[in-house]
Amino acid sequence: MPASTSVKDYIRTIVDFPKEGIMFRDVTTLFADPRGFRMAIDQLLHPYAGVRFDKVVGLEARGFILGGAVAHQLSAGFVPIRKKGKLPGAVISEDYQLEYGEAVVEIHDDAIQPGEKILVVDDLLATGGTAEAGIKLIERLGGEIIGCAFVIDLPDLGGRAKLEALGMDVHALCAYEGE
Ligand code: PRP
Ligand code: MG
Repeated sequence: MPASTSVKDYIRTIVDFPKEGIMFRDVTTLFADPRGFRMAIDQLLHPYAGVRFDKVVGLEARGFILGGAVAHQLSAGFVPIRKKGKLPGAVISEDYQLEYGEAVVEIHDDAIQPGEKILVVDDLLATGGTAEAGIKLIERLGGEIIGCAFVIDLPDLGGRAKLEALGMDVHALCAYEGE
């Protein structure tokens, strides 16, 4: 692929996945490209130059890929928020709504200390349900969320507005709106 300055150029759209009518924004092509992946990590960090973070929290599963690289770059720790039943130690849980039904995410109850400065990372912000559940977990442990960073924002689905209403600073590298 020719060099590009936009992460969007590295994101592939798969039509009708996982079901008819859905335009799936596939970040595996961004992650697989050496320039694309570095660009994504650099741009996720861009607004936070000079800010000290204690921990980066990544949301399972694609948020782990980004969050690990971001944490390394910040010399911060990395904390996973996982789907129910995956973490081995004592956890706290939050429910959130999916299109059909509910899901549960968990964090180790000793993963964040009160007052620690946190950056939340995921690949995609859609309805904001996943991120909101993660934010609640972090805040229950006393973490201070400095920012929430995503590669893709789907503003039509309301996630950004939802997180901003919670007082979050939302950073996204690109958006798909009405396309
Ligand atoms: C996708 C995406 C975000 C979330 C966004 O994850 O990676 O985490 O949905 O949607 P929302 O803003 O409406 O909550 P998914 O739950 O498909 O799981 P995965 O990352 O483990 O593949
Ligand atoms: Mg996800």
